[in-house]
Amino acid sequence: MAKKKASPKSDHSSVLRRHAEDQFAEELAEIAKVDDRQRPPNWRLSPWAVVTYLLGEPLDNGFQVSPKYVGSRRLMEVAVATLATDRALLLLGVPGTAKTWVSEHLAAAISGDSTLLVQGTAGTAEEAIRYGWNYALLLAKGPTSEALVPSPVMTAMQRGQIARVEELTRMPSDVQDTLITVLSEKTVPIPELGDECPAEKGFNVIATANNRDKGVNELSSALKRRFNTVVLPPPKTAEEEIQIVEQRVASLGRALELPSEAAAIEEIRRVVTVFRELRDGATEDGKTKLKSPSGTLSTAEAISVVNSGVALAAHFGEGHLTATDVASGLTGAVVKDPVQDVIVWREYLETVVKERDGWKDLYRACREQL
Ligand SMILES: Nc1ncnc2c1ncn2[C@@H]1O[C@H](COP(=O)(O)OP(=O)(O)OP(=O)(O)O)[C@@H](O)[C@H]1O
Ligand SMILES: [Mg+2]
Repeated sequence: MAKKKASPKSDHSSVLRRHAEDQFAEELAEIAKVDDRQRPPNWRLSPWAVVTYLLGEPLDNGFQVSPKYVGSRRLMEVAVATLATDRALLLLGVPGTAKTWVSEHLAAAISGDSTLLVQGTAGTAEEAIRYGWNYALLLAKGPTSEALVPSPVMTAMQRGQIARVEELTRMPSDVQDTLITVLSEKTVPIPELGDECPAEKGFNVIATANNRDKGVNELSSALKRRFNTVVLPPPKTAEEEIQIVEQRVASLGRALELPSEAAAIEEIRRVVTVFRELRDGATEDGKTKLKSPSGTLSTAEAISVVNSGVALAAHFGEGHLTATDVASGLTGAVVKDPVQDVIVWREYLETVVKERDGWKDLYRACREQL
């Protein structure tokens, strides 16, 4: 089988992961050209154009915009419309439902900058939402505006852009509450300078939170009221999920310059089928009930199973994706708890995979991993 050579992409960028506004700069520019609808103050595009960018619909001039989000158009419309109001947007959902992905693309399309980001962790401090100080300057000159180090949220306020807060519910509650002033007053008071930093028009916040992970600090109801919540669901149909995995694997393969052919759609279909069946606790035809493993088996993990399979195939395998290449990834994704999950996985292999037409190779490859 002839292998395609790894070809550096036209942009010659050596950055491992480019920001959305950079990677999709051409699409954003093309959309802006045909976008004659009204734009909210400081928005780069109209709400209609932002949704077009997200869903990847062809433009009137024939330009093909690539789809970023696969799923309900209405959800994206609600998300974008929210950002044009004075309420902030909370993207909620189980892991791997594209919350971070959508938030990045929204910020890129609306503000042309997806980098004003606060990563919520148990250690996130108030300074990440308000401001900090350059201590050398502070000691030398006292509190001055030069010594003040604005947070990403404050920078977004000054510029009238979108700030992103990732994993909002991982932040300690008192830090979460700092956001209340920002969102309701639209200003950050700076008592040390006897001043404040008011938000320019166009400023808003997109937060993400997932409702599955441990160590979650519930949102206070005061904060909840300041957000419109959009719940991102797991892909409805297998076809949708296959499309997502295929697209992401293709683009990751390009970014990593993997010397490989397009990942075989049939292998992707099998990985997605395994994920969906185990997640749903029943086979596709609904005839056999299954036990679900402890992990979440999200679309994001299906993407990484196929992606590492492609890397194995390219460097050590036959150049095209086979059952052997996905077997170790699949086993790793399913077996998170070495005792319980092994039982679930083995039962699934014996009762479903072994018996399914044309799946013998996958059965054998997975059995070898156990
Ligand atoms: N509906 C979808 N449309 C397009 N891509 C999707 C969809 N669902 C998942 N993905 C893909 O899954 C990957 C993971 O998504 P992302 O990291 O945004 O998940 P998340 O919801 O933030 O998860 P977590 O809760 O773990 O942070 C991304 O590469 C994204 O492209
Ligand atoms: Mg995320």
